[in-house]
Amino acid sequence: MHDVSKALRADGATPELVALVDIILGAATQIAQCVRQGALAGVLGSTDDENIQGETQKKLDVIANQLLKNALLQCTDVCALASEEEDTPVVGNPEGKYLVAFDPLDGSSNIDINGQVGTIFTIFPALRDIAFDSEQQFHQPGTQQLCAGYVLYGGSTLLVVSVGGATRCFTLDAASGNFVLTQASLDIPADTQEFAINLSNQRFWRPAFKQYVDDLIAGDTGPRKKNYNMRWNAAMVGDVHRVLMRGGIFSYPSDSRNPRQPAKLRLLYEANPMAFLIEGAGGKAWTEAQRILTLQPTALHQRVAVILGSANEVDTCLAYLK
Ligand code: AHG
Ligand code: MN
Ligand code: MN
Repeated sequence: MHDVSKALRADGATPELVALVDIILGAATQIAQCVRQGALAGVLGSTDDENIQGETQKKLDVIANQLLKNALLQCTDVCALASEEEDTPVVGNPEGKYLVAFDPLDGSSNIDINGQVGTIFTIFPALRDIAFDSEQQFHQPGTQQLCAGYVLYGGSTLLVVSVGGATRCFTLDAASGNFVLTQASLDIPADTQEFAINLSNQRFWRPAFKQYVDDLIAGDTGPRKKNYNMRWNAAMVGDVHRVLMRGGIFSYPSDSRNPRQPAKLRLLYEANPMAFLIEGAGGKAWTEAQRILTLQPTALHQRVAVILGSANEVDTCLAYLK
């Protein structure tokens, strides 16, 4: 048995769930090859299409979506899947046990600059009391996730995954094609001196959030009495990975840029899986008012404010917002 299967089985996952994760990793390995080949594989640049969110699809968004979709629809355990790049759920086997949701390519703006990108995924149980092809299948709070993870296509290709126990990290061994366990358990320090926030939005923030960030920037001359450093990848997968590796706070708060769309990140396939991984590593993941994992979803592509990372820093941020 390979490392991922061994670890997930030890964490209590069923053989069917482990097999499903394996299918996702097969597609992710193909996506990793596309990312690695870049211009040589003709995968850079944009298409002429937009997704339901009104974003221009990059070629790699479409390729990654197709690879995941093709692989998952061959699995009889998949009842339905949802993707950032699909308007509505795509149905599989009505008897299938699982729902899979994914952001096939997170950090699309980084594709053409050879920056970090990744695939974020989550698995929920299919509900027997709701029609298998109904969008309502996916309206489950994040606490119901059976598995969440991401594959980060960076200098190394990494898998970070949890089935509810530890958050574990594996590295893709190009020679064998296997993901090898390289960190058995990630543990986020409760305190930090690093934040990841897109400061260019600050004039659109609510005053309390702006005050919080102003106080971070004031460093040891301000009320926080310590200096903070800032990082912003423009790929949640990269920013959350840094937080999981060495602590920090990552936030994409609500703002007033577009009143019809106050938040940016999507609950189903961005906020929920990341919240699951962060909590598994001892961190906290909240909206501005509540634990992300307890939110009752109302729409497939619903967006939410996200504040996650080192527990004490998230608490401090939330105290400003009260
Ligand atoms: P995606 O590429 O899947 O659309 O997601 C991009 C998201 C997220 O990864 C990142 O944190 C954020 O958008 C970056 O937003 P800004 O460009 O506004 O900084
Ligand atoms: Mn994304
Ligand atoms: Mn995406």
